[in-house]
Amino acid sequence: MKYNFDKIINRENTNCIKYDLRKKLFKKDDVIPMWVADMDFETPSFIKDAILQRAEHQIYGYSFRPDSFYDSIVNWVKTYHNWEINLKQISFSPGVVPGIAISVLAFTKPGDKIIVQPPVYFPFFTTIKENGRQVVENKLVSKDGCYAMDFDDLLSQIDLRTKMIIISNPHNPVGRVWKKQELEKLVEICEKNEVLIISDEIHSDIVFSQNKHIPIATISEYARENTITFMAPSKTFNLAGLSTSVAIFGNKKLQKTYNLYLENLHLNLGNVFGNIASEAAYTNGYEWVVEMKNYILENINFAHKFISEEIPQINFIKPEATYLLWIDFSKLNMTDNDLNDFLINKAGIALNLGNAFGSGGEKYMRMNVACTKEVLTKALNQLKTAINYL
Ligand SMILES: Cc1ncc(COP(=O)(O)O)c(C=O)c1O
Repeated sequence: MKYNFDKIINRENTNCIKYDLRKKLFKKDDVIPMWVADMDFETPSFIKDAILQRAEHQIYGYSFRPDSFYDSIVNWVKTYHNWEINLKQISFSPGVVPGIAISVLAFTKPGDKIIVQPPVYFPFFTTIKENGRQVVENKLVSKDGCYAMDFDDLLSQIDLRTKMIIISNPHNPVGRVWKKQELEKLVEICEKNEVLIISDEIHSDIVFSQNKHIPIATISEYARENTITFMAPSKTFNLAGLSTSVAIFGNKKLQKTYNLYLENLHLNLGNVFGNIASEAAYTNGYEWVVEMKNYILENINFAHKFISEEIPQINFIKPEATYLLWIDFSKLNMTDNDLNDFLINKAGIALNLGNAFGSGGEKYMRMNVACTKEVLTKALNQLKTAINYL
């Protein structure tokens, strides 16, 4: 291994949400933070050095994104996802969620219906509701913990006011990597009903084993023309604090409208360090990502074995992607609030409450395992002790 993922970096006193907001959010500043989707690993030197080199220049005025910024994304998407795009198809987004919100504003009208597939990443709901559109829930169905899309329900929910669907591909929090047949079926329904597809593919680089991420835009000509795909280095390389993401279009008209909104909101500039870090990551990050995924997969396997053998009262299905475990706590028979309180105050760990992800999240918790093995082991042992004490 070239990179050291066991190294513990003290993140306290850096205004970091995961650690420095513990006191405020959980009323305890020593709880092990395994909630917000943010990794604890050291930023690799090829990113850090690029930022430091730019920082040394000492003037950080307005800057633009050169062709090399876009080329690095074109190459990454081709190498990693076998998707041929050209640099003109890429627009900037100051984060994936802001890009989704811009798309909601640009491509739907107040009162329009937008479909989401809960339990799902909760800002999807807010980008819809806070912009005066209606949320339509096409709930995932779970069979023995394995989640799938419910196409009959999807069809029954669509009417003339339904203009858009926002999907998480791969899916946060359930960890599914959507298969070709599933995406084909989804596209077929969207095509018949003229529903625009917003595909959040922020987790697409962190896919394990034999699973293969398929950008939904590659499914068909309709999908290419009617999908806005969001990708970012923010999960893959832990650069979320740099607010640099991209939207990929296969339709010039849609892209022009999106760009106009971005410009009118004066959000198109981005920031100088985000641009530098993204290009450095996508240019030099191939080996690091392989090692990072191996480390995370070991953490997932370790947590799975530990939980099955030592804490059989809870369980999770191994995710096909993401560093997030979607853990079923229903056998503890607690309300969501009691469960949260128990985890914080008795087990000393902070997770995301499953019910925040909408319908189907009740009695689940999301655990982020993008931490060192040492921290993960400590957290699981604390959890075991607390549950055994019940
Ligand atoms: C599915 C998904 N989309 C978007 C984001 C956040 O993206 P951004 O910080 O770029 O808005 C996350 C973060 O956890 C996520 O899981």
